[in-house]
Amino acid sequence: MADIYRASTTAPVNIAVVKYWGKRDAKLNLPTNSSLSVTLSQADLRTLTTATCSSSYTGEDSLTLNGAPSDISGARTQACLRELRALRVALEKKDSSLPKLSSMPLRIVSENNFPTAAGLASSAAGFAALVRAIADLYELPNSPTELSLIARQGSGSACRSLFGGYVAWQMGSQADGLDSKAVEVAPASHWPEMRALVLVASAAKKGVSSTSGMQQTVATSDLFKERIAHVVPKHMKLMEEAIAARDFAKFAEVTMKDSNSFHSTCADTYPPIYYMNDVSRAAVRAVEAINAAAGKTIAAYTFDAGPNCVVYYLEQDTAAVVGTFYSLLPSTEGWKDQAKSYASGAVQLEEAVA
Ligand code: ADP
Ligand code: DP6
Ligand code: CO
Repeated sequence: MADIYRASTTAPVNIAVVKYWGKRDAKLNLPTNSSLSVTLSQADLRTLTTATCSSSYTGEDSLTLNGAPSDISGARTQACLRELRALRVALEKKDSSLPKLSSMPLRIVSENNFPTAAGLASSAAGFAALVRAIADLYELPNSPTELSLIARQGSGSACRSLFGGYVAWQMGSQADGLDSKAVEVAPASHWPEMRALVLVASAAKKGVSSTSGMQQTVATSDLFKERIAHVVPKHMKLMEEAIAARDFAKFAEVTMKDSNSFHSTCADTYPPIYYMNDVSRAAVRAVEAINAAAGKTIAAYTFDAGPNCVVYYLEQDTAAVVGTFYSLLPSTEGWKDQAKSYASGAVQLEEAVA
């Protein structure tokens, strides 16, 4: 029987505190602005991907996602597979004793242990895991930043999930996209007290995908022009300063303002896109109540392209933030209907950031 070559990897979710929203080149998946995220620990939210190849496999490359066959004929997944294969071909050319994995069909099996396409960055963890699993299978020597250039083409946010800690995606300026990559801003150990509370308001697939939503925003929103010209550059600078100084109040203010700015451009899209719902707005009010009770900013909300809320806070404020959230939410208007899913464990607490 022919050998089967195999590699498995997990990749974590990252939740942006300065959001990527807008493409300047849809083919190469180049963004209209730089972004910055925190990578969550893999204890709760992660993708597990196994890549295999064998000379006994026939047919096309395939992906099984959460137990069902998934279409990988799209240009973005194809770009990832093509670039990874090209790197393997180069290795095989240099060393003719290497098995010719590049000519074998790939079978990829992936599972997210959290809702897919619900605004919890499944495309980020998903494409980061896909790229790293194949890179491991092919024994590629490439660095995380080099792999981020490939993962970016699968899903923009995925380039940031190749690093732990605090990660920037530099938008770059080249037309070929070779300078549009992820870099580590600080390792998780720089600010180990950082925590993220993930509140699942709905696990349903979003109505408007990130890819489609941001293209509608770029095409129709005037507010978006202001966001990329002035708001994001200001937020990137302030966020890098806040992280360097471990200044939580500043980190929190920029995080919340950037989330608000991003969702405002969605509302300014024509026709408007609403990712946040009444449940999301109840979470915003709960964070405001927590900060008011503390007399300082100890919690920061942020929402991706979906209704689910991520609250950043520091370990020493766990009782005030998580405790208050748990006591507030079931009785907060809008969360009443959610009390059941809340009680059944839909609210997940991340142990720590990666
Ligand atoms: P999200 O907010 O969850 O990132 P997106 O609309 O950005 O939602 O992307 C969802 C898409 O990402 C899915 O429909 C699927 O095509 C892709 N995706 C999600 N998880 C994986 C995975 N584990 N492996 C490969 N692709 C994935
Ligand atoms: C709101 O990376 O999912 O989560 O590149 O089209 O796959 P594509 O989009 P995606 O967009 C993420 C948008 C966001 C903000 C962020 O993660 O920075
Ligand atoms: Co996504």
